Amino acid sequence: MLTRRKFIQTIGGAVTLTAAPMLLESCATGLATYRGKFDGKMITIPHSEAAALAAPNGVMLVRAPNFPIAIALRRLEGKGLIALSTVCTHKGCEVRLLPDALECPCHGSAYALDGAVVEGPATQPLQRFAVTENSEAIIIQVKA
Ligand code: FES
Repeated sequence: MLTRRKFIQTIGGAVTLTAAPMLLESCATGLATYRGKFDGKMITIPHSEAAALAAPNGVMLVRAPNFPIAIALRRLEGKGLIALSTVCTHKGCEVRLLPDALECPCHGSAYALDGAVVEGPATQPLQRFAVTENSEAIIIQVKA
């Protein structure tokens, strides 16, 4: 027999499981994320979707559903935009974006804001993508 308590526990668990991925993602990153489209050569981000980059050192994630990795897009104070792969060069975990670095949760590698390794075990810098902007959008070139 299904008691009221059992019913609420079951429904509560189902709701929790359904909502968990969205909550985990937003809690895990806390970053503005653009889910644009990769057209085979580039990802174009309208400025209207990139408010997080308006401030110096502003940062956002770019996750195109048809592109296999997330890209960290950041406006470096006095140096313009930089687009870096979030794939750690050690063993491929996704790095976390911190205000002053990128950090790998798997084995502790750390990268400077320009992608250079500042702490191993990684030895290679993060992959860097060419990025340009015009009056309408920011364009990340992901294929040569
Ligand atoms: S996968 Fe990043 S430090 Fe090992």
